Amino acid sequence: MLDWSKLKTRASARPTIMSLFSENRNRAEEFSAVAGEMLFDYSKTQIDQDSLSLLIEMAREAEVENCRDEMFAGVHINETEDRAVLHTLLRNLSGDAPDGVEQSELDTVESIRMRMVQFSEAVRDGSFTGQGGRITDVVNIGIGGSDLGPAMGTLALAPYHDGPRVHYVSNVDGAHIADTLNGLDPETTLVIVASKTFTTIETMTNAQTARDWMSQKVSDPGAQFAAVSTAEEKTSNFGIASERVFGFEDWVGGRYSMWGPIGLGMMLAVGPARFLEFLAGGSAMDTHFRETPLAQNLPVLLALVGIWHNQGCGHATRAVLPYDQRLSRLPAYLQQLEMESNGKSVAMDGSDLEVNTGPVVWGEPGTNGQHAFYQLIHQGTRVIPCEFMVARSGHEVELDHHHQLLVANCLAQSEALMLGRSLDEARALMAEKGLNGDELERQARHRVFPGDRPSTTLVYPKLTPFVLGQIIALYEHRVFVEGVMLDINSYDQWGVELGKELANALTPVLAGEAEADSKDPSTQMLVSYMQFKG
Ligand code: F6P
Repeated sequence: MLDWSKLKTRASARPTIMSLFSENRNRAEEFSAVAGEMLFDYSKTQIDQDSLSLLIEMAREAEVENCRDEMFAGVHINETEDRAVLHTLLRNLSGDAPDGVEQSELDTVESIRMRMVQFSEAVRDGSFTGQGGRITDVVNIGIGGSDLGPAMGTLALAPYHDGPRVHYVSNVDGAHIADTLNGLDPETTLVIVASKTFTTIETMTNAQTARDWMSQKVSDPGAQFAAVSTAEEKTSNFGIASERVFGFEDWVGGRYSMWGPIGLGMMLAVGPARFLEFLAGGSAMDTHFRETPLAQNLPVLLALVGIWHNQGCGHATRAVLPYDQRLSRLPAYLQQLEMESNGKSVAMDGSDLEVNTGPVVWGEPGTNGQHAFYQLIHQGTRVIPCEFMVARSGHEVELDHHHQLLVANCLAQSEALMLGRSLDEARALMAEKGLNGDELERQARHRVFPGDRPSTTLVYPKLTPFVLGQIIALYEHRVFVEGVMLDINSYDQWGVELGKELANALTPVLAGEAEADSKDPSTQMLVSYMQFKG
């Protein structure tokens, strides 16, 4: 386990961002790094050269490089489930398995991908049909990692959609499936049931509802169902023919799974060629992560900035702020990726941790967030490190003036957070408005921005499939590096189990088939309130 005291001491005496810029004219260049055409600027943080060196030294001490190599080599680093962590194999397009991994594993990945390609092409060119002809709509039923990744990616790649419309249903709230199916034609709809375990209650309930809906009009509804799962025998029990079942191995964590069959909805929407570009982007980030020295390595730097802000400075949350409307589901996707991975409280050996683990991750796209919660980011009492991201160019060339405004807003926010506005500047503004005396003082104080608030900015050329792959792999590896430094298992999720067990036990109670006596008084009261149908 790392000794966190030095980092905390350094962070408690951190300099201001502006002082760092005045001391070092080359700070912007020195505290930024590139991967391909992507630029990561972390100069608007309070990290100075000594802090950076300390963070890098801590990453070395935690053996980040060695652990990284073990992950790519298929070592069972997910120790509590005794599993390898090999989602990177799903985007390995080299044809050669990495050292330590059987070639047959990669061959299997490729052959399943080939089946996905053939199926997607058949659906997209109309050779696979529903009872009513060509498939017009696809409904992906899944939750968590079987939903957030492909749903986020499908939206992100909207300019490339040239296949059937793809919809995502996740919530067990019947409103979700009812609203999605409303207006769809069962005879031209394909349903994908996406579940790694094929036992998740939300997904199985929605899948059954979709099958009932389809059977009202379609004589063989199972023929318009496909499944994505590691539990292939369960898919056949559900009545889905094996030719439309796309399996994957248990070494792919749910929240890391959009690169393989869980990405089928994306592949149907944008076509296999674009999907392969997405994989190539992820793979390019893998190469960068494996081959670039720590001090220029984007996932490592993103992780070190995260560690500095959370474990060093004690900032409990971080905001992810994509100035890219098509990344509007990215914060939700990252919430699962980061918080399910690094929201742990024991070390690998089961002992209690002496440091806080993963931060609360939240966000919304800009500029919308500016008109909602940025007030708190600028003037609230808590410091929220912000992670901005923005494309150099948009897809809508005819609307370039929109893009200019978007970029101006993004850059202005990080500038405003850093610069702030002093009391003297605020007083001058109030004086210009003709105020004086106590009223000038009072009004000026409300217009002070403390400034010195840290942010990073990730700039990418354009939100193409390749770039999306780079961004997602960047964040996956960031989570990995933070997890290694915290000495936690980023690849299990035992914390989701208890709630599931209690929900299963409460279902018969709510249905009046079991007693609530053993429940605590609050739960008993809530149950009896729910049972009153007056
Ligand atoms: O409840 C958490 C979780 O297990 C996630 O880790 C997973 O992504 C999600 O549920 C869905 O699981 P499955 O793909 O097995 O249905």
